Amino acid sequence: MLAKAFAFTAGVGDNFNNKPEPLKIGLIGLFSSTTGCSTVSGSNGSPRDLKAGGSLHGRVRVPGDKSISHRALLFGAIAEGTTTIEGLLPAEDPISTAACLRSMGTMISPIQSGEMVTIEGVGLDGLQEPSEILDCGNSGTTMRLMLGLLAGREGRHFVLTGDASLCRRPMNRVGQPLSLLGADVRGRDRGNLAPLAVQGQRLRGAVVGTPVASAQVKSAILLAALTADGATSVIEPAHSRDHSERMLRAFGADLEVGGEMGRHILVRPGATLKGQHVVVPGDISSAAFWLVAGALVPGAQITVENVGLNPTRTGILDVLEMMGASINVLNRRDVAGEPVGDLQVSHGPLKAFQFGEEIMPRLVDEVPILSVAACFCDGESRIRGAAELRVKETDRLAVMARQLKAMGADIDEHPDGLTIRGGRSLKGAELDSETDHRVAMSLAVAGLMAEGDSRITRSEAAAVSYPTFWDDLERLRR
Ligand code: S3P
Repeated sequence: MLAKAFAFTAGVGDNFNNKPEPLKIGLIGLFSSTTGCSTVSGSNGSPRDLKAGGSLHGRVRVPGDKSISHRALLFGAIAEGTTTIEGLLPAEDPISTAACLRSMGTMISPIQSGEMVTIEGVGLDGLQEPSEILDCGNSGTTMRLMLGLLAGREGRHFVLTGDASLCRRPMNRVGQPLSLLGADVRGRDRGNLAPLAVQGQRLRGAVVGTPVASAQVKSAILLAALTADGATSVIEPAHSRDHSERMLRAFGADLEVGGEMGRHILVRPGATLKGQHVVVPGDISSAAFWLVAGALVPGAQITVENVGLNPTRTGILDVLEMMGASINVLNRRDVAGEPVGDLQVSHGPLKAFQFGEEIMPRLVDEVPILSVAACFCDGESRIRGAAELRVKETDRLAVMARQLKAMGADIDEHPDGLTIRGGRSLKGAELDSETDHRVAMSLAVAGLMAEGDSRITRSEAAAVSYPTFWDDLERLRR
């Protein structure tokens, strides 16, 4: 019965009627003849005019957490039985993950805002060899976790690519540790750059120290370990977000977390994953734009509802507290294994701040919006230990420095961070997301605070993680 409603497509469509989504259609046939990478991220959508001034009031519910959404799709696909997902992020990145999984024979119902998503799991080794290239779009999480998932699919061959941004991002941070389990991942630059080819192998358990505190790397190894011969230990240099550990355990994996601050994870293969009902909380990385905007914009008062408050993700709240921002956490609760709450923020004076590598894994995606916040705090703010930002969807340190300087900000760029002297006014300017979703939304907040109006080119990048961002902004400004 249920199967009738499924989109059993090659992964291009994802609206309710299963009609191809406009942007995804754009991906077809747009593979570069020289690299095989799709070129859609270079597209130059209509610029968005942004009026400065005004205030922000009201309640907003940010879309589902991107990290949790990817994992719910991936784990649901390799579980036995049906997985249902409530609150899955209906944005380009998770749609890329779903499209790849569908290409390998997993039935996933259409991903549509407000609709429950249903997955018919194929079991731990049930993914089929796809007849086409797996397109991970702009999504590093899709590509990296997919490498771990596919490395152990013995006898099957997979080719993965992505857009121009993703084809520039380092993949050997995953391929190298996976090779310790016997994985065969090849690509340009000695296996570092997509397009990548994975020849599925019989894997063996190993003890793996990860080169960076990255949840993507950790999760890829955990996925590969599920079907390896023998146990695998993953040891991280610092504790990265732990959504995979929480959710894999809920699905029935044999997984132990130990060591200082949960940095050591042990997986014993053999356990069958069982389909689950997953509830995805709102994404704190999307809430961050409203938290900073609410703290900065004169007279603002915003409540962001249903935000995931997993302690491995709440570094932004610690920094906002350090700045003296007025933020209340209301209605704290636990939803399907993840802590959740409503965040109430109001405008007030803010102090300059400093942070370094110790907090970085807990706020890595919030550095762009915090660099905007720093421009409006009196005094000098320092962000260090942030070299990882240089290998995100864009080089976020360079891009934020360049764009904020265009508004007159006083910023020094360092190899691993930024120094920002705040308290001077910024002027409206011609800005560019440079195709990066978090940059687009950060610049929107900067534009609200500027003297004079701005124009943001490639603002549509926001749809990678927050498709309704511009609508929510309009609504909160009324
Ligand atoms: C993510 C982990 C982070 C983060 C990314 C999503 C994940 O990357 O920046 O947006 O879902 O695992 P790293 O793990 O590479 O730090």
